[in-house]
Amino acid sequence: MLASKNILLIIGGGIAAFKALDLIRRLRERGATVTPVLTRAGAEFVTPLSVSALAGHKLFQDLFDLTDEAEMGHIELSRSADLIVVAPATADLMAKMAQGHADDLASTLLLATDTPVLIAPAMNVRMWQHAATQRNIAVLRGDGIGFVGPNEGDMACGEHGPGRMAEPLEIAAAVETALADGLLKGKRVLVTSGPTHEPIDPVRYIANRSSGAQGTALARALAALGAEVVFVTGPADVPPPGGVEVIRVQTAQEMLAAVKAALPVDAAVFAAAVADWRVVGASDSKIKKTKGGLPKIEFAENPDILAHVAQLTQARPALVVGFAAETDDVVENATAKRARKGCDWIVANDVRAETGIMGGPENAVTVIDAQGAETWPRMDKARVAARLAERIAAALA
Ligand code: CTP
Repeated sequence: MLASKNILLIIGGGIAAFKALDLIRRLRERGATVTPVLTRAGAEFVTPLSVSALAGHKLFQDLFDLTDEAEMGHIELSRSADLIVVAPATADLMAKMAQGHADDLASTLLLATDTPVLIAPAMNVRMWQHAATQRNIAVLRGDGIGFVGPNEGDMACGEHGPGRMAEPLEIAAAVETALADGLLKGKRVLVTSGPTHEPIDPVRYIANRSSGAQGTALARALAALGAEVVFVTGPADVPPPGGVEVIRVQTAQEMLAAVKAALPVDAAVFAAAVADWRVVGASDSKIKKTKGGLPKIEFAENPDILAHVAQLTQARPALVVGFAAETDDVVENATAKRARKGCDWIVANDVRAETGIMGGPENAVTVIDAQGAETWPRMDKARVAARLAERIAAALA
């Protein structure tokens, strides 16, 4: 329920804007206050009067409306909200968000805020699939913007495919999830993320394809639920989320030391792709080519950080969650891995190159616990993270 929540609803200019009227009703039914903002294009599809009448609230439309600026500046307007919802989020609005434009009220509000943002994209299927839009989606996801939809189906333009705005009830549910804060208040959660780099010499190292996207999304989702998050990350492609304690490491041994130093915690989630081996006697100076000779690299096994924490006899976290990156017999291997390492849950994913999961925006996971295996549909890593964070909150409650 959304009692006492203040939602700033930005209605963009698309045919799906009519569904925003129903969304206002659904949000208000759940107890939310809805402050509506209508873009110039949005006003071509729904009237200002119907929006403000349904919202029971003053409608904001113009960046340079001096009365509004005197009463409530655009900074204040976006800061006073608990969540900003953009529905429909058009291709143009998403492009502006990705680029940081601020040339009208909607884009300025979205730039002038650190309030969480949830967007419900709606556009023609070709626009959705266009490389430019896909680039913007990746940028927005990286910026921590939440997505609901789009769904696949028949579109107003007569085409079929992804691009239909999510239904108002789905958006209302996503709003509830986004605002389910406080579930992890007072809980300290450790997340490991990213690859590790194992040096060969000062210029060369052994690495893996982990981008750190899933671990980062998870840390963000846990923090959004109010957890105090310690985020131990290897050299990842994506920036760490805001509002968490970030500890940067390079190697598996450094990661283990950072994890030990972060204990005790209520829950520990090991999303890092830790290198299994390190190079014995990594050279302090660059290894030079020698005529006819190849360097001999000898490996030693790295400590298993997850197993170490899962098997602690003192101050073991109440919940220890591992990930299993598998390419074959995913569920069987992950089930065995859970038993071998002694963790409570293991989140298995199929990292064969053709799945595009490692380093990609989406994940398809099976969560295995003592009760059995639960397979989730393929969805973006932020949604997987949100669901996992809620499951963790329920387990710790
Ligand atoms: N893990 C860890 N420390 C290691 C290796 C793995 O903490 N040295 C953790 C990972 O963060 C992950 C889980 O163990 O949560 C499983 O990682 P994975 O690479 O799938 O398993 P491995 O133990 O490396 O097994 P294998 O490579 O044989 O599949």
